[in-house]
Amino acid sequence: MGDIAKINVGGQDVESPVLKGTIGPDVIDIRKLYGQTGAFTYDPGFTSTASCESALTYIDGDEGVLLHRGYPIGQLAESSSFMEVCYLLLNGELPSKTELDGFNHTISRHTMVHEQLSSFFKGFRRDAHPMAVMVGVMGALSAFYPDSTDIADPEQRKISAHRLIAKVPTIAAMAYKYSIGQPFVYPKNNLSYAGNFLRMTFGVPAEEYEVIPAVEKAMDRIFILHADHEQNASTSTVRLAGSSGANPFACIAAGIACLWGPAHGGANEAALNMLREIGTPDKIQHYIDRAKDKNDPFRLMGFGHRVYKNYDPRATVMQKTVREVFAALNVSDPIFETAMRLEEIALSDPYFAEKKLFPNVDFYSGIILSAIGFPTEMFTVLFALARTVGWVAQWNEMISDPGQRIGRPRQLYTGPTQRDYVPLDKR
Ligand code: CMC
Repeated sequence: MGDIAKINVGGQDVESPVLKGTIGPDVIDIRKLYGQTGAFTYDPGFTSTASCESALTYIDGDEGVLLHRGYPIGQLAESSSFMEVCYLLLNGELPSKTELDGFNHTISRHTMVHEQLSSFFKGFRRDAHPMAVMVGVMGALSAFYPDSTDIADPEQRKISAHRLIAKVPTIAAMAYKYSIGQPFVYPKNNLSYAGNFLRMTFGVPAEEYEVIPAVEKAMDRIFILHADHEQNASTSTVRLAGSSGANPFACIAAGIACLWGPAHGGANEAALNMLREIGTPDKIQHYIDRAKDKNDPFRLMGFGHRVYKNYDPRATVMQKTVREVFAALNVSDPIFETAMRLEEIALSDPYFAEKKLFPNVDFYSGIILSAIGFPTEMFTVLFALARTVGWVAQWNEMISDPGQRIGRPRQLYTGPTQRDYVPLDKR
């Protein structure tokens, strides 16, 4: 018999089992609490609530640890490839050489999109934010691929996962091309996942596009760093949307919508805009003071995290990658100096130390993406591209669970109690 937590509600003792994961905090199972006491628990923002069981990703926020299927993110970023990480997240184990070759082959055979999908783009204004385009076009995939929307069929779930991972770079690149008025570039399947995406984004039909290996490597690493991140807002959105039985394409569109917000995936765009606004190191203190001012809504973008109360391990890799990309492209950006100085000043300030606010994944990523040539509006699109595998793996894990039920949170109602309707002439 495992541990039991005793909860006293209105003088009545209720015993709740304490569940243990392989690592991480214990979880009090309160599923029977309402039935036994008539009381709900209250946890808006889910600060103390585990919403599901998962074997995919583990974060220790105090220690700054991130594991995918047990493997530390630093090791994966250093030695693995995005395709290998995708396989790992979807299947639970690192692939053998044959398995990886087979997976690469499968993904590369799904990179094209239905030709009619390109008409969708033409309906958007040229100046539309590419995330608005992504939400629309990714959701529309279910209309083009209805043969992989039967979620009760594991084979169709697998095919939809492969389609999503394979097509999201094509669609992301198309969103970019549309915004700058250039023709769409078809995928080229003998290139790597990252190389193909770079070519579809920056190549033009009039010229051969040469993939720069160091940039391809950096792009692949950025994808790895964003592949999955436990039950964050967009992943929870995908799970909640999927819990009703909605098809995976619709669920991923819901995840993209959630990711767009500046507190989540939109922070990479906001962080670079902020660094450009700060400009030179002499202005940093002014912005630090604003971030500390309770009456000023300004926050240091790319700083702080709900779970990490230590350095985000992804930010460490990002910072290193900035240098590698600068060296490969033989460029520099004074913003990088400003960013490092800002980090230094913030980390030595008691406000940030007490609240345990450290740079997160978004603090340095924008500098790299900008050096590669992406406009800021594309940053969150790149996050969505890479996170698609995490969303779809989490969705599949949920649907594969025979005990899965529709997600249906309850509430603390604070509106009027029942009252009688008043006719218009009496109001
Ligand atoms: N700058 C200044 N103060 C901050 C910041 C910041 N970036 N982040 C948190 N705080 C303060 C906040 O004012 C609050 O202070 P107090 O306790 O005095 O009211 C305290 O720290 C706790 O903040 P919170 O908003 O209650 O924390 P949260 O866990 O709800 O929010 C967060 C986490 C990531 C939304 C928040 O830190 C933030 O807005 N950061 C900036 C946006 C950002 O970089 N987001 C990317 C997150 S990583 C990528 C991803 O997951 O998408």
